[in-house]
Amino acid sequence: MTATTTRQSKKDRWDRHASRVTEPRESWGPSAQLAATDTDPTPPALLVEGVTKRFAVGRKKKPVTAISNVSLRLERGGIVGILGANGSGKSTLIRLMCGLLTLDEGRVEVFGHDIVRDELAVKRLINRVSVDAAFFKKLSPMENLLFAARLYGLDAGTARGDAVAILGRLGIAERRVNRPVEQMSRGMQQKVAIARALLTSPSLLLLDEPTTGLDPRSKLDVQAFIEEIRDDHDASIVLTTHDLDEAERLCGRITILADGKVVAEDSPDGLKRLVAERHGQEPTLHNVFMTYTGRSLDDDVEEDGSKDDE
Ligand SMILES: Nc1ncnc2c1ncn2[C@@H]1O[C@H](COP(=O)(O)OP(=O)(O)OP(=O)(O)O)[C@@H](O)[C@H]1O
Ligand SMILES: [Mg+2]
Repeated sequence: MTATTTRQSKKDRWDRHASRVTEPRESWGPSAQLAATDTDPTPPALLVEGVTKRFAVGRKKKPVTAISNVSLRLERGGIVGILGANGSGKSTLIRLMCGLLTLDEGRVEVFGHDIVRDELAVKRLINRVSVDAAFFKKLSPMENLLFAARLYGLDAGTARGDAVAILGRLGIAERRVNRPVEQMSRGMQQKVAIARALLTSPSLLLLDEPTTGLDPRSKLDVQAFIEEIRDDHDASIVLTTHDLDEAERLCGRITILADGKVVAEDSPDGLKRLVAERHGQEPTLHNVFMTYTGRSLDDDVEEDGSKDDE
């Protein structure tokens, strides 16, 4: 077999997988489950409306409001970036979007399904990759992926082929997929986390800092893969990142959070125009970030309770 045919057969396998990304409805049961709701014939991939989340941090202290009255809308096939300084609420918002945290106020809908009332339907449409993904470290990437596949009720044989294709696409060779995860570098583990999320063919993918800690080449691999999923496979994506070039490259819309509130929302070009016109600054995303968050990317939120509002 020539190198070309090997590449081709890998691509075929990936394409087969990818076609499921665009058509998850059938692999996950009755298509009625995803039918348009009565109220909105073409609901967006994600609708977040007036969401607030408070954390109790000790009996006497007032609760910390980590997310305050946040709204955003992600159209199908789009990528929305969430930017903000450390502690601004990005990961909390992602956890609220996938039901890992309960909402104190507001609502979240995924393809028209309410995340609280229609929890099961939402879980089938969504997957999340976080920078601190957990694995069975003694098990191999393949075993971890097959475990996830079983949780989602996927066919083991198909899942195995898909896993090899996705891992290969992310630069993890077939010979590496059977060694324990604990022997892999953090960057490689991050790629396995992304592969695991994609195995379930999510229609909405929540990526919490997917490229943090990756070397420049791996970062480009993952960014290209994210673009590919969006462009060719119709997935809708929420992305948090501290890499402004990445946000500019990938995101159609950007929401900027500061202290749990939305302080700016627009396309990357729209945001750049805004800082140029309103603040007389050079139109760069760096200046946008600095203007709207009032702090540098490396600064942390004060730990002195200044966020203990309300
Ligand atoms: N389980 C929790 N209990 C109490 N406070 C929490 C909890 N999770 C998050 N917070 C607080 O909520 C705020 C937002 O945290 P979050 O992790 O969402 O920020 P982030 O924007 O993702 O930061 P980073 O860029 O560092 O990942 C912080 O003040 C944090 O301390
Ligand atoms: Mg975070």
